[in-house]
Amino acid sequence: MGFNSFGNIFSITTFGESHGKAVGCVVDGIPAGIKIDEEFIQNELDRRKPGKSKYETPRKEDDRVNILSGVFEGISTGTPIALMIENKSQKSKDYSNIKDLFRPGHADMTYHYKYGIRDYRGGGRSSARETAARVAASAIAKLLLKEVGIDVRSGIYAIGDIEAKDIDFEYAKQSIIYALDRNIENEQKSEIEKARNNHDSIGGVALVKLCNVPIGLGEPIYEKFDASLANAMMSINGVKAVEIGDGFNSAKLSGSQNNDEITKKGFLSNHSGGILGGISNGDDIVLKVHFKPTPSIFKPQKTIDVNGNETICELKGRHDPCIATRGSVVAEAMAALVCADMLLLNMTRRVENIKKVYER
Ligand SMILES: Cc1cc2nc3c(=O)[nH]c(=O)nc-3n(C[C@H](O)[C@H](O)[C@H](O)COP(=O)(O)O)c2cc1C
Repeated sequence: MGFNSFGNIFSITTFGESHGKAVGCVVDGIPAGIKIDEEFIQNELDRRKPGKSKYETPRKEDDRVNILSGVFEGISTGTPIALMIENKSQKSKDYSNIKDLFRPGHADMTYHYKYGIRDYRGGGRSSARETAARVAASAIAKLLLKEVGIDVRSGIYAIGDIEAKDIDFEYAKQSIIYALDRNIENEQKSEIEKARNNHDSIGGVALVKLCNVPIGLGEPIYEKFDASLANAMMSINGVKAVEIGDGFNSAKLSGSQNNDEITKKGFLSNHSGGILGGISNGDDIVLKVHFKPTPSIFKPQKTIDVNGNETICELKGRHDPCIATRGSVVAEAMAALVCADMLLLNMTRRVENIKKVYER
């Protein structure tokens, strides 16, 4: 039994390890006839790729995408699209001193006890290198969503305690730390630098928005839109919590404060985050994704080795001082994958949609 696939109709299966030859994915369920813009896929990968600034891991990867199948003369053929991204900047020697011990906060210990064998180099399959494949796959999902006018955005809401007040998704696109609020970007940058200079790391929160989603997407009961988004976000490395709409804060409100009143022109507020009963209500779908601080830090920490002996973990290697920044691109990618799947699932929900196939 394998669990490396995600999605129902629009589905992806990813493969690869951090220091293996390549990472990649097979995207299935994509309708025929969609223009597959390779440059767009590459641009999406470039947004996630490491080594762009001092606020990220210095591991430099080209992250060039190779489209292996499913596209003919730039158009999807309805067959599986395989995408491959070669790993070029492995420095496996950096990991030789920790091959027999467990990094606190990372997946080394659980992988060891579960499988009895693990590729310790760069975290193997538990490394966020795998998320490059998700981002490549999501670019295909976004090309499908674009056909119906759905737009997905993201950015950094908080780094540590420093929270955005004025949200600007356009600004986040040009910010080196994906900051949503230009007025506090420098404070957020300093927070990351402070952590890095202290040989430590810092957590953060990404904000993701799906715009122009029609009413009716989401499949009660067990594929509710919000349930699927939560599942998707929690599958990202280092994500510890997800909020839909007002999320945690809604538990502190009264019904009269939390309900989004309805008028002919639409909702008067969006506390629900655009989802009611697991179904999109036509408003923007809004979620916050909480990332923990990077587990691999350069401070010595107590741990045990594979034989159960206590020892000190002292790391070398290249690590992100804050995973939320590049993580925001991954969260956006997962939201696009969920939305594309919900869109295709919804096609089967009304007899009118089925009849349309014969209206020629
Ligand atoms: C974009 C991104 C980059 C990451 N970079 C690192 C890194 O450089 N070093 C590290 O130890 N963890 C990094 N992580 C987090 C680990 O992959 C993650 O904490 C680990 O797999 C354990 O999983 P868990 O935190 O979900 O329990 C990154 C995560 C993401 C999403």
